[in-house]
Amino acid sequence: VTPSPTAEIQQLIAAAGDTPRALRQAVDTVGPARAAELALAEIRTRLNTPSNPHPIRVGLRIEHDGYDTATDTTLTLTAGLPAEFAEGLHPECQVRVIYRLKDLVRELWGPDLARTAGTRRIELATAHDTEFPSRELQPSIAAATSTLIDALDPRSPDLGALALRHGSDKWGQTHWFTPHYERHFAPLRNAPVRILEIGVGGYADTDSGGGSLKMWRRYFHRGTVFGLDWFDKSALDGPRLQILRGDQNDPAQLDALAREHGPFDIIIDDGSHVNEHVRTSFTALFPHLRPGGFYVIEDLWTSYLPGYGGDDQDLNAPHTMIGLLKSLIDDLHHEERDRAEGSAPTQTEAFLTGMHVYHNIAFLEKGVNAEGGIPRWMPRAPHW
Ligand SMILES: C[S@@+](CC[C@H](N)C(=O)[O-])C[C@H]1O[C@@H](n2cnc3c(N)ncnc32)[C@H](O)[C@@H]1O
Repeated sequence: VTPSPTAEIQQLIAAAGDTPRALRQAVDTVGPARAAELALAEIRTRLNTPSNPHPIRVGLRIEHDGYDTATDTTLTLTAGLPAEFAEGLHPECQVRVIYRLKDLVRELWGPDLARTAGTRRIELATAHDTEFPSRELQPSIAAATSTLIDALDPRSPDLGALALRHGSDKWGQTHWFTPHYERHFAPLRNAPVRILEIGVGGYADTDSGGGSLKMWRRYFHRGTVFGLDWFDKSALDGPRLQILRGDQNDPAQLDALAREHGPFDIIIDDGSHVNEHVRTSFTALFPHLRPGGFYVIEDLWTSYLPGYGGDDQDLNAPHTMIGLLKSLIDDLHHEERDRAEGSAPTQTEAFLTGMHVYHNIAFLEKGVNAEGGIPRWMPRAPHW
């Protein structure tokens, strides 16, 4: 059986946070040439648009340490254009970046404190290897080298910058969500998280969308990102990013996909924003969230829009998203009320441990909600 790229990357991600011996074993199992190929595919997803005005050829040599082989690639970088990759080291590279494979795997997919800066070598190459590069080219060489090095760095720019870069509307114009995401997700950044986002973006246009999925992939450099959409978005499949197709209002489909790809550390609902759909998805998927994880609901404003099944008249309407959130406050406090004889706590009563509601976005925390109610001996009315 040929291992899937996902399984191979998962193996490298796990090993990148492990001992040198485990890392060596994982690279041996995946195979050095294949591991280098997967690393190059990852680098492609991370490269920013170059800014160097003069075209620069950057040679990237990945030495298969312990083997007598290497993977050589030449990247041609020019301001405003996508990077071009070609096999082999072009004889006229202006700069060469040389990595040992295991260091590169750790750098790309390891926890950021384990990064191996300093183990790479950067060599300026000139026609005779002795001349200084021309004064005119120097700034371009520096900028091109930095474009590559930035892509290797596990630490990404902040989420607002990533949203703008990848074309997600989670920051700018209409929504201002990324600081909230940053606040809650920062502690998970070094974990090999599994994220499911409902709503890939781009609607019926099969080639567009995926902005937030690409943002999450860069932010969680060890994560695996799944995007669910009603439309076929499979053109966006790529390293650490898998597209699923389905209807967020169909509980059986959601349960099946979560059994196959979950449990998840993060689930985000940025789909139809129809109140009924949001509630269906939450009920079906909350059980598939890991303890310590977050369920996020975006665009709470549609709670007040009749067109989305919302209600702007009855603020206590139980069928809206805001109605759901209000009822969850009661679930969080279920231990403070007498329970009907023989009834067991619901999923949200038992496992919802925190709620953070901001303008238009809610973060629901999962854990074990069983601190125990206030003891019986505490007076039930003011006693002074
Ligand atoms: C607002 S866009 C998502 C934007 C994206 N998350 C981002 O931040 O870049 C909403 C997406 O939800 C999808 N969608 C709408 N109804 C859906 C449903 N019932 N099930 C699954 N996806 C749905 C749409 O096709 C659309 O692509």
